[in-house]
Amino acid sequence: MSLSFEGRVVLVTGAGGGLGREYALAFAERGASVIVNDLGADTKGGGKSSAAADKVVEEIRAKGGKAVANYDSVEDGEKLIQTALDAFGRIDVVVNNAGILRDRSFARTSDLDWDLIQRVHLRGSFLVTRAAWNHMKNQKFGRIIMTASAAGIYGNFGQANYSAAKLGLLGLANTLAIEGRKYNIHCNTIAPVAGSRLTETVMPPDLVASLKPEYVAPLVLWLCHEQCQENGGLFEVGAGWIGKLRWERTQGYIVRQKNQSMKPEAIRDHWEKICDFTDATKPANVQESLQSMVSVLSQVESQGDVGVNPAAAAASAGLGSGIDPTKAVGQKLPPTTFSFNHTQCILYALGVGMSTKDPDHLRFLYEGHPDFGCLPTFGVIPSQAAMMGGGLSSVPGLNIDFTQVLHGEQYLELYKPLPTSGKLTSEATIADVLDKGSGAVILLDVNTYSGNELVCYNQFSVFVVGAGGFGGKRSSEKAKPPVPPPKRSPDAVVIDSTTRDQAALYRLSGDWNPLHIDPSFAAMGGFKAPILHGLCSFGFAARHVLKQFADNDPSRFKAIKVRFVKPVMPGQSLQTEMWKEGNRVHIQCKVKETDAVVLAGAYVDLHGTSGASPENLSQGGGLQSELVFAEIGRRIKDAGSELVKKVNAVFGWEITKDGKKAAQWTIDLKSGSGSLHKGPYSGKVDVTMTVSDEDFMEVVQGKLNPQKAFFSGKLKVRGNIMLSQKLEVILKDYAKL
Ligand code: NAI
Repeated sequence: MSLSFEGRVVLVTGAGGGLGREYALAFAERGASVIVNDLGADTKGGGKSSAAADKVVEEIRAKGGKAVANYDSVEDGEKLIQTALDAFGRIDVVVNNAGILRDRSFARTSDLDWDLIQRVHLRGSFLVTRAAWNHMKNQKFGRIIMTASAAGIYGNFGQANYSAAKLGLLGLANTLAIEGRKYNIHCNTIAPVAGSRLTETVMPPDLVASLKPEYVAPLVLWLCHEQCQENGGLFEVGAGWIGKLRWERTQGYIVRQKNQSMKPEAIRDHWEKICDFTDATKPANVQESLQSMVSVLSQVESQGDVGVNPAAAAASAGLGSGIDPTKAVGQKLPPTTFSFNHTQCILYALGVGMSTKDPDHLRFLYEGHPDFGCLPTFGVIPSQAAMMGGGLSSVPGLNIDFTQVLHGEQYLELYKPLPTSGKLTSEATIADVLDKGSGAVILLDVNTYSGNELVCYNQFSVFVVGAGGFGGKRSSEKAKPPVPPPKRSPDAVVIDSTTRDQAALYRLSGDWNPLHIDPSFAAMGGFKAPILHGLCSFGFAARHVLKQFADNDPSRFKAIKVRFVKPVMPGQSLQTEMWKEGNRVHIQCKVKETDAVVLAGAYVDLHGTSGASPENLSQGGGLQSELVFAEIGRRIKDAGSELVKKVNAVFGWEITKDGKKAAQWTIDLKSGSGSLHKGPYSGKVDVTMTVSDEDFMEVVQGKLNPQKAFFSGKLKVRGNIMLSQKLEVILKDYAKL
């Protein structure tokens, strides 16, 4: 169907000749009511005549079309629109076409040369368009054309004033396209080429004759038609050809490094890369332009980050790679400190999937819990700060591209349960650098101290893609190797789902690599979506072992080793398979949905249970209660299994003497065949009772009613108070001693 403009009212400025006349005739021919505006000036903006516009109006009318003339300058924008409203009652289309030239070499450009050009082209188009805008907005339809020029897009000798105005019109159109979109007002820009009185001085006569305005007008008609959804476009048009233009941007290059000032020398040194249009991007709006800029902030922030980051592997190497183990091995990174309190511990526990849905998790999620503690794998967090600091980049002999870094393996060993607050200092040393051919492996040993006391040790295995082949050794006695699981089927399997926001939550513990949150960054690495942190899956697997084989007791945890094999997507389920071999629990972790192994060669080493037999207990201490506990220990040895069935709880006792804590006992009637522990107990205690040595004896001898003792404050109870009822049964039993 042909494109009709029946019922549409079209204003063409500068329509007394050249391109404008052609547009006016073409619109009228297709049924539009046309306002033929022309000041009738000469090409430099001088003079004034109504003849030019009148002539075009006559031409249109002679062909049976509808047109009225307007002789105002575009600088009187309102008047042009008023003519349209008076004659036809509305305005649908504005073609900003009027123009003049005042070409001068830049040095000779006068104020007037400059101002007149800006006034007619840029300000004129602004005033006319603004006068039409609200009418278009109210009727929810409008089509606007801005006329730019190749001189503006590319520059042209002697046209500084004109180039500036013409590209100014493109900027204006870009924003009108955005502001008008929701009102169905579209604004597009053309850079035409046609023979006219403006070009006859610069083009040979035969070219002027053959580049006809009628080869430009059809594009203007299409862009102004209601069917056309193009908005914000820029087109070169002439000789019957039309092409669209857009911006292109190089991949660019980050010249800034974390904690270092940005220097012009760095820009000089990477100039080629900055200007290299290979794999150029085409940002289409301010958001896209800005997005990549903002992601640079986090990229710089996470320099030296060892999160699984093949993102980078896809991006081509930026820094030259060069490894010299003789220089690098033994180098120390600047020490880092990590201050934290229970908030970080809880946030980490949530990050590795702990939930209040599981009552056993509360001890890691609630700082008021009597056994509140830190998950053992939190030990990677303070040491990771040493890595995040970008320290690796300062090591001599390690000239590597940090965008090529992958987290290969992790070993963590705890020397004591982690505190839940405080200040930890980490010291990192390059333990070894290995040449694996396809890449290099950097073994980074990190010791973390609380004051002078060594709390934990981490070994990061960092794989640097493409950095191998420097003639180094392939293996190291300093490496903590992965160990394959036994061949039999696993002793235990735990399936646990990660949430859609698992990575968004985990990163708050300090691994800010945008690969785990920013879809465009993940896409650069060839991932459909941001991936879960390897150390997050590591945390999941470790707590599965802790629950399955160590009763969620952090003090039982000694060490963990994993090899990261494949990424996990947030929302997928992790299946941890476990094999217990003495104090070692071998683990393998899979994504349940795909059956892909994600953590391999992994294990957790536990400390043996610290159950003490009554015989080993110190008999001294001058407490009467000692004898009673010794007897309890004997009874448990004889009939523990039965009691475990009957009671199924762990009781803590704090015995005081002269108002001071004098002894601590735990009666475990929950696990195995029951046991008694003296001294601090780090496992889960269901209920803890504090009582003086004397009152304790009164109670066990049946002289003091435990309830009365409780209400009088002689017996204090923490934890599950209901369980103390069960204890009463046992105590009564022992009272018969
Ligand atoms: P033209 O000189 O034939 O037409 C321009 C018209 O605008 C003239 O009729 C003139 O009287 C009128 N005019 C000038 N000042 C005015 C004012 N203040 N108010 C109202 N009308 C005024 O030139 P041509 O070639 O048709 O150019 C049309 C538009 O296309 C201009 O904006 C020009 O800069 C642009 N252009 C043309 C190119 C070409 O190859 N012809 C190349 C690039 C851009």
